[in-house]
Amino acid sequence: MDVFKIQGGVPLKGEVTVSGSKNAVLPLMCAALMGDSPSIIRNVPRLRDVFSMIEILNSLGAEAEFIEDSVLRIDPYSVNKYEAPYEQVKKMRASICVLGPLFGKFGEARVSMPGGCVIGPRPVDIHLKGLKALGAEITIEHGYIVAKGKPVGGEIFLGGRFGSSVTATANILMAAVLAKGRTIIESAAMEPELGDLAQFLNRMGAKITGLHSHVLQIEGVSRLHGIEYSVIADRIEAGTFMLSAAITQGDVFVRNAQVRHLRALMDKLILSGIQVNEEKDGIRVVSELRPKSAEIITFSFPGFPTDLQAQMMALMSVADGISVITEKIYPERFMHISELNRMGAEISLEGSTAVIKGVSTLSGAPVMASDLRASAGLVLGALVAKGESLIYRVYHIDRGYEQIEKKLSDLGAVIIREKEEEPSV
Ligand code: EPU
Repeated sequence: MDVFKIQGGVPLKGEVTVSGSKNAVLPLMCAALMGDSPSIIRNVPRLRDVFSMIEILNSLGAEAEFIEDSVLRIDPYSVNKYEAPYEQVKKMRASICVLGPLFGKFGEARVSMPGGCVIGPRPVDIHLKGLKALGAEITIEHGYIVAKGKPVGGEIFLGGRFGSSVTATANILMAAVLAKGRTIIESAAMEPELGDLAQFLNRMGAKITGLHSHVLQIEGVSRLHGIEYSVIADRIEAGTFMLSAAITQGDVFVRNAQVRHLRALMDKLILSGIQVNEEKDGIRVVSELRPKSAEIITFSFPGFPTDLQAQMMALMSVADGISVITEKIYPERFMHISELNRMGAEISLEGSTAVIKGVSTLSGAPVMASDLRASAGLVLGALVAKGESLIYRVYHIDRGYEQIEKKLSDLGAVIIREKEEEPSV
């Protein structure tokens, strides 16, 4: 298994280019299934999750492949199966994004129920409620969600216990564009990845208004066509590099980082005494002093993203003072705490609130990555820690960060990927 070996303590300096967004491209790939001609998607990151989605699309009968380095071609012409099996869904929850397009276009979808996951329970009730409102008859059979029927427009409230749902909004939006009549989605998620999806669908011939708001209106159309499209930059990857500059007291220009996607993070960094400057085509982060502590509450967009919570916690673990981070989206997403504490952090958990007593520095240690963003938090911890850290199970990080070790090395970090036996637990 691959391990990262990191020698911490080097301030990162230079420029890094952010790749296309994982959470934007996955639903776009599913949307391409609804066209009656091929789509070309550009700026696609070569990530494990993207390859998993290519496998799913091909298993449905589509032809999906990289035709150039970051260019994906998806031909939906020969789709002849409407099922995403357990083996695929268990690898990647975003597989559920085929549910809306398959139901919308073919009136039939069978998708394995995703199970629990290391970041906490992740139910699918909002997806099902939305599809029912569009005329789907839903049954759960042998661990599979089965949706059947003739899609018709409807008025749908998509709010849930933890606010809006990103992939449920994506699914219902995709099903609604080919449904007969008008659909109104209230309490739609507003994450930038959904704005990208709505634009992609409109370019395919859909009629969606209210983009980037909580209320989406959709006039159903009878057909969609393939298009060429370039995916937005990954705001979570951008935020992770911004935090890597902050934690190492470096100076990094993050090319393609979009201010309008990252205001919540920028605000907290500035309050912590870090310089954050909008420049042409990106954001520069410069840090010369130990950061000040902060109070963070994760929330849906435009709030502070849960996908940057672990990385922010790594920064706060070396801040001057006591920080408080409350997780409102996934109240159990704290697997990184015990590993950061093994590096010398002083973090305790009260319910879904972490209290972080800043220490002056961390010390390198072997640690275990538990999920994608937790691993990014551990990498940041290792970058500032004195001495060597070993990060096991980096396959988690490969799901969502393209060539992270190369990008960090180019900024001066001492990081190598090696194959190594995992310690037994
Ligand atoms: N929820 C429900 N019922 C549902 C769906 C969601 O109660 O039917 C709850 C969830 O349990 C959670 C909250 O609603 O408490 C928000 O979950 P959401 O559905 O928005 O999450 P998601 O769509 O499954 C996407 C991203 C996640 C990101 C979240 C929140 C993709 C492919 N995944 O997940 O990304 O954390 O939105 O922003 O877009 C990651 O990239 O590491 C990642 C986990």
